Amino acid sequence: MKKMWSGRFSGESSELLEAFNASIMFDKNLYKQDIAGSTAHAKMLAKQGILTQDECEKIVGGLAEILAQIERGEFEFRLEDEDIHMSVEKRLSQLIGKEIGGKLHTARSRNDQVALDFRLFCQEAFLQIRGEILNLIATLNEIAKAHKNTLMPGFTHLQHAQPVSLAFHLLAYAFMFVRDAKRLKSSYERNNLSPLGSAALAGTPHNIDREFVARELGFGGVTQNAMDSVSDRDFALELLFDISVIFTHTSRLCEELILWSSQEFGFVSISDSFSTGSSIMPQKKNPDVCELIRGKTGRIYGNLIALLTTLKALPLAYNKDMQEDKESVFDSVSTALNSLIILNQMLKEAKFNEQNLANACKKGHLSATDLADFLVREKGVAFRTAHFITGKCVARAEELGKDLSDLSHDEISDIDENITPEAMKFLSLEASREARKSQGGTSTQSVNEQIRLLDEWLGRNA
Ligand code: ARG
Repeated sequence: MKKMWSGRFSGESSELLEAFNASIMFDKNLYKQDIAGSTAHAKMLAKQGILTQDECEKIVGGLAEILAQIERGEFEFRLEDEDIHMSVEKRLSQLIGKEIGGKLHTARSRNDQVALDFRLFCQEAFLQIRGEILNLIATLNEIAKAHKNTLMPGFTHLQHAQPVSLAFHLLAYAFMFVRDAKRLKSSYERNNLSPLGSAALAGTPHNIDREFVARELGFGGVTQNAMDSVSDRDFALELLFDISVIFTHTSRLCEELILWSSQEFGFVSISDSFSTGSSIMPQKKNPDVCELIRGKTGRIYGNLIALLTTLKALPLAYNKDMQEDKESVFDSVSTALNSLIILNQMLKEAKFNEQNLANACKKGHLSATDLADFLVREKGVAFRTAHFITGKCVARAEELGKDLSDLSHDEISDIDENITPEAMKFLSLEASREARKSQGGTSTQSVNEQIRLLDEWLGRNA
């Protein structure tokens, strides 16, 4: 079987080389982008008088037929065709004849062709993943609306710290995902440029119109240096990085759901449809989805590091090393989409246990800071002294086996003259939460504002 590039070769390729060199088994994923790019290229060549109108129509028609064949599952991808670019071009010549089919590659190289196909793929991925992130934000915001008054302990060092609402805690994630969505959009906008027409590395002597191709493909413009355009993959790195940050966030959310669904916490129950059982312990219900998303963070980070390392210190311009750019990106994109879709569905069905969340607030004297703040604000006590007095009250609560918020005035009034009956209302957990009215705080008022901002942002970005 003759290779398309076999002109200067007299010997046959080793079969080992063929298998080792080929990328068709994974870059066939790019068939849509490859055909779209070739179609735009052919139209441009005709507009510039490089192809006749008739030649262009045959090429465009042939490409459409190939697309249909691939989508019907009738196209056989063969190792010997090396990659998607040569597979499509070879089939085109079989369909419309070598004379015309052989003209498609005028003013083009596989180097700018693959840079184009891969960039188109990444551009679509930025938007698809962003769409799933928006769905997740909407779900978190809806859960927040239902749990504005669900009290729970806020943690630092995984120790009970101050009372917050469940809404407030979940909104923390919603705002992380808003930044992720913005990051994806800005990556999309920065990279929305067509590299086609860069040819092998130095541009082409043919009178091409790169802007035309860019417009045909939905790009905002063209790249500015041919050598850069065929040799960098920073758009793919950005995609891998953006996905990595998303997984940093989802891994934290999933970790909390795993903890919260344990017997120790009992804050949430994951629905049966998203839990798995044990093959030996009949009573078990495991949060496998969360564990898997947490676990997949490893390969997501690995994919980013892999491509960074592949590109590091590569001399300009194209090197075959760059064929290694694709599998990690395909893997990260499908992993991200699948994970976000299932996480969203699982959250929609999760049931938060309000009673257990409230009971947890009764452990750890969560309103201690509020008592100290009262003494400073209303009684003019120095903060250090207020801290000490409050510490004494906590010790008393421990002695009595109670939570600070459950003490009566009689039980602590002897500790300091400033512990007045009025002080007692600052020990209430609800009051503690409601007191945090600062912008971004956990009071109902502040949380309502956060929910409103998210609704408004989602409305503008839908
Ligand atoms: N399959 C190749 C890749 O993915 C296409 C570009 C090949 N270019 C070349 N000069 N051999 O990178």
